[in-house]
Amino acid sequence: MKIINSVEDLRKEIRTLKTQKQGTVGLVPTMGALHNGHLSLIEKCRKENEIVVVSIFVNPTQFGPNEDYDKYPRTLEADAKICKEAGADIVFAPSPRDIYDEYYFKNKETTLVCPPYDVVNKLCGKSRPGHFDGVCTIVSKLFNITKCDKAYFGKKDYQQLFIIKKMVCDLNFDIEIIGCPIVRETDGLAMSSRNTYLTPDARKKALSISAALHRAKELYKKGVNEAQTLIDTALAYMENQGLNVEYTEVVDIDTFEKTDKPKTGALMLIAARVSVDTGEDIDSVRLIDNIEL
Ligand code: PAF
Repeated sequence: MKIINSVEDLRKEIRTLKTQKQGTVGLVPTMGALHNGHLSLIEKCRKENEIVVVSIFVNPTQFGPNEDYDKYPRTLEADAKICKEAGADIVFAPSPRDIYDEYYFKNKETTLVCPPYDVVNKLCGKSRPGHFDGVCTIVSKLFNITKCDKAYFGKKDYQQLFIIKKMVCDLNFDIEIIGCPIVRETDGLAMSSRNTYLTPDARKKALSISAALHRAKELYKKGVNEAQTLIDTALAYMENQGLNVEYTEVVDIDTFEKTDKPKTGALMLIAARVSVDTGEDIDSVRLIDNIEL
């Protein structure tokens, strides 16, 4: 497995591997701090492609000014080990200067890929203006750089997956987007790189997010199909644990529009902040999760 930093070297290596292996290129875009959720994407990608590229890049254009860009965990050595064991051919780990040009660093602006307003400015996009423009921009760049045939994304970030599929359709990228199931800890917490911020006490509180989703699903299975009742139940569960809930919504999985009477397979999504007392500071960690009803 090769670890490559520059776009030019990556293109060269993919060309070489393509002549050797004659198959499809699969891409797993990540921001590193890899966990078993990422591992499941890499393993699936390995099974379905001859050439496997994992990108590790904490993308500045998808972070808002008051978000955790600087403190986002960067663990390249451990990440590379995970990729190697999972059989990746290439880890692409560029620096921001390998990806964005001088103009960007001087003016804090670049050409952006901006999906429609109504798709990006709800749910996570409501509290993170510009986030999905940054995501779509870096993902388009990675698609253009790797010329991949397939790309793998986790369903924990379901809105991101939906938006990327829309972008691929709208911009005619000839790439298959594959959504992969959420991987959970044994106690139910959805795996996330941001879980590393949680103290044991905060982690316990964070469990109420997945518990609330499972409770809502149980109610739905018992015949409660009023979205508001499911939302109120989930909210009460989390607020009881002291969580600051940003949103709890039920959407149609095909349109991502709110639904009052969810059909089977509708998606319930939550974003909530858990406060973390580090002893020196009280911080809050934003977590997301979802479940198909
Ligand atoms: O989901 C992520 O880790 C990021 O948003 C992605 C898709 C790698 C783009 O930076």
